[in-house]
Amino acid sequence: MENEITITVIDQNGNTHTLLCPLEMGLTLKDICKAYELPMEAMCGGMAMCATCHCFILSEAIPLPEKNDIEEALLSELFTSNTTSRLACQIHLTAQMDGLSVKIAVD
Ligand code: FES
Repeated sequence: MENEITITVIDQNGNTHTLLCPLEMGLTLKDICKAYELPMEAMCGGMAMCATCHCFILSEAIPLPEKNDIEEALLSELFTSNTTSRLACQIHLTAQMDGLSVKIAVD
């Protein structure tokens, strides 16, 4: 569908979930994971303060918006972060992200 994308999320237990994401609501990756009741804590509710929405981007070919300074700083404090790390609450879903694949971090 035109106003919908499909993303794949692997949870902390290794289970793979296929999520249909409507685009017109301005949802973030964190929002859609919570809507599907996946085990992502996201304790601060998307304020870029807790890093409990940490995930790893598996699909390198899909361009994502650059990290802002706050996201960069928060991720740099995590022992488990690497170059593919992002905060799911800082990624607003767009049509270009169709086929995105991510793994929720175990922090
Ligand atoms: S939900 Fe807290 S940093 Fe993303």
